[in-house]
Amino acid sequence: MKTIDISIKIGFCQVEELSTADQHLIQRAVEATGNSYSPYSCFRVGAALLLADGTEVIGANQENAAFPSGLCAERSAIFAAQSVYPGQAVTTLAIAAANEYGLMRDPIVPCGACRQVILEIEDRYKQPIRILLYGTNGVYVINSVKDLLPLQFIGESMK
Ligand code: THU
Repeated sequence: MKTIDISIKIGFCQVEELSTADQHLIQRAVEATGNSYSPYSCFRVGAALLLADGTEVIGANQENAAFPSGLCAERSAIFAAQSVYPGQAVTTLAIAAANEYGLMRDPIVPCGACRQVILEIEDRYKQPIRILLYGTNGVYVINSVKDLLPLQFIGESMK
């Protein structure tokens, strides 16, 4: 059996090194953590995304006493954006999170289900989404969700 080597490159920088537009989107994600409804996990996640026409949409995790009925911040933002602004590609997605002690030092990464939903948007609009994962220690800059989901299942996979 041969081995297939899959490698990815992810950027890491301080928030001040990013463009003003990126810093602004991260700030929106940080603010969106305040809209989290997370009485069960006490983990507040905020997402802010930029659409192709420049519109910004935010989302925050929304929990439920019946745990699986809640939704992550990333999917809240993406589904809201696609519902209110149909036909608009997502160009950038920023994510921030806080626990009871405040903003996370290390960035958090989207869960598997959110990665799959972000992938669908990339595939739908045929353009990559830059993902900015914010932590107070620094920011991971990811050029496409494919770097977080190296083997992808998309609509084309069923043909
Ligand atoms: N959560 C998100 O909103 N996004 C992520 O990327 C990871 C997890 C939420 C789901 C749940 O409300 C809480 O964080 C704890 O898992």
